[in-house]
Amino acid sequence: MATTATTELAINGGTPVFDKPVPFMAVGLTKKDIAAANEVLESGMLRAASKCAALEERFAAASDAKFGLTCANGTCALQLAYGALLQPGDEVIAPAWTYIATVSMLVAAGAKVVFCDSLEDSYQADPKDIEKKITKNTKAIAVTHLYGIPVDIDAIEALAKKHNLKVIYDAAQAHLATYNGKGIGAFGDAVTYSFYATKNLGTGEGGMVTTNDESVARQMGLLRSHGETDKYLHEQVGFNYRMNDITGAIGLSKLEDLPAQTDRRREVAKIYDARIDAIDGISRPVPTKGSDPAWHLYTCRFDPAAFTCTREEFLAALGKEGVPTALHYPKSLTRQPAFKHIVEQNGGHEPPVALKLSQTIFCIPIHQNLTDEQANGVCDAIEKVATAFRK
Ligand SMILES: Cc1ncc(COP(=O)(O)O)c(C=O)c1O
Repeated sequence: MATTATTELAINGGTPVFDKPVPFMAVGLTKKDIAAANEVLESGMLRAASKCAALEERFAAASDAKFGLTCANGTCALQLAYGALLQPGDEVIAPAWTYIATVSMLVAAGAKVVFCDSLEDSYQADPKDIEKKITKNTKAIAVTHLYGIPVDIDAIEALAKKHNLKVIYDAAQAHLATYNGKGIGAFGDAVTYSFYATKNLGTGEGGMVTTNDESVARQMGLLRSHGETDKYLHEQVGFNYRMNDITGAIGLSKLEDLPAQTDRRREVAKIYDARIDAIDGISRPVPTKGSDPAWHLYTCRFDPAAFTCTREEFLAALGKEGVPTALHYPKSLTRQPAFKHIVEQNGGHEPPVALKLSQTIFCIPIHQNLTDEQANGVCDAIEKVATAFRK
């Protein structure tokens, strides 16, 4: 941390809040993770075996789900879930405000996507807008627990029940998040997770899909491994989306540390909540009622009407104070060239909140290694820049 407090922005030659930038995320392996991987390397059992099986069991239990299937990554997890639950041509409602894979894998499954909007405070899919978009052809809702904040599961499950729809939750960013006191694996037809290197549980590449329905678990298992029911007997066409035991061992080792790391993310979020509430023109994420987020990302909003600078200028100044930021995401999915056809099929409609979020959000550092002092320093820097640019 800088020793001398100054109001002159670092971007104008003042002393920065931090001498050295705060790390945006905490990635990498501990000695314990490396030892777990080495044990597998030395055993020579590289394919999916006991480590993957143990990870499936423990991760499903930690998420309050009955069945867990490891797989190659979070994108494959979505493909397994969609493949088991949807038919080509099914109409599926999905948010325009999420990572591309939630929707691109619907396209890959042959689904007809209808974009719904998101809520401005929690950033999660808006159940009221979902309801407006349900037609007699709607077969499923595919929503993300974005940034690790659970969606309004009660509202979505009520819609699903009323209209007889399947629900797939993309929890790539939400390991160990809870809703009404239960793990998010307890809800919906399938829940998918990513273990990409930067995720709360990061194995490099890797993924998981959980379900509480044995027949869905079986079908996803078949899709994961060439539809094979016996050696060289293929009941149906499938893929090779399997994990390997090196990844499984790293995942198991990391899962042991995840509850304490998630608690620390929650403590940092509490510091941010209180401090950011006091900064005019910047707002904080407001989690869905009943949820306890996993805080993969802590995403704030910039009110352009409150400042004399653009969001990009604000973030550049924050960067000079030693606070890195990121835009998750810079575009609504309706603005992705790959989804031009979906917008056309949706009659040119672009959910307005998703567009607004793309222009106003920014993510600040959050991870288990942040100290209270660093978290407060991040808020000091935001306050300093906000004061300098406030109208
Ligand atoms: C919301 C969401 N869904 C899906 C994925 C895809 O996961 P993976 O990168 O493991 O394929 C990600 C990863 O960034 C994600 O954030």
